[in-house]
Amino acid sequence: MCARHIGFILLFTLLYSAVKISSKFEFTNIDCQSLDKSFADFEYCYLKSVNRSYKYLSAKAKLFKTPIKKVHAMLFKRYSGYKPFMFDVTLDVCRFLNNTKANALGSYFLEFLKPYSNLNHPCPFDHDLIVEKLDIRFVNHQVTKVLPFPEGAYLLETHWIAYDIDRAVVKVYGTLS
Ligand SMILES: *[C@@H]1O[C@H](CO)[C@@H](O)[C@H](O)[C@H]1NC(C)=O
Ligand SMILES: *[C@@H]1O[C@H](CO)[C@@H](O)[C@H](O)[C@H]1NC(C)=O
Repeated sequence: MCARHIGFILLFTLLYSAVKISSKFEFTNIDCQSLDKSFADFEYCYLKSVNRSYKYLSAKAKLFKTPIKKVHAMLFKRYSGYKPFMFDVTLDVCRFLNNTKANALGSYFLEFLKPYSNLNHPCPFDHDLIVEKLDIRFVNHQVTKVLPFPEGAYLLETHWIAYDIDRAVVKVYGTLS
């Protein structure tokens, strides 16, 4: 590679990181829906703004019949409408949690939840699933520093599957600007 190329790449990287430093994540909406209330239901699911810098997400799902076997996770980015972006994967939950390092993308997203949830342990899950006060500042660090995302409006949609039927859908909306 010639020096001019390298110089250009360095300049681009610097400009790119200068943009990234100023970008900021915000949750814009959350929607938790049980498709089968005999299977699972949500006790709560909300976003809260404490003040300008401290905002969080909390959700609690009660499982009446275990187990949730799979999670189908899709990321969308908004252009004129929401379009698939980066991944559309179905995770075998127990296999993944048994060896999280085998799945780089899965473990990146598990990092978001680790400090705030009771989900970070191997199967079985025979208890309520709780995400408590997932801190916007932590999410911001994850999506701007750990793995920088381009600016835009995003939707993370997860379907929770048991016996090959979707039992619940959680949609989390956010913007990085
Ligand atoms: C926002 O609220 C948090 C938690 O109550 C507090 O620690 C922090 O100092 C507050 N920040 C501002 C700017 O008021
Ligand atoms: C979890 O890992 C252990 C040890 O590697 C293995 O024996 C077991 O079958 C695994 N369980 C699942 C559900 O993959």
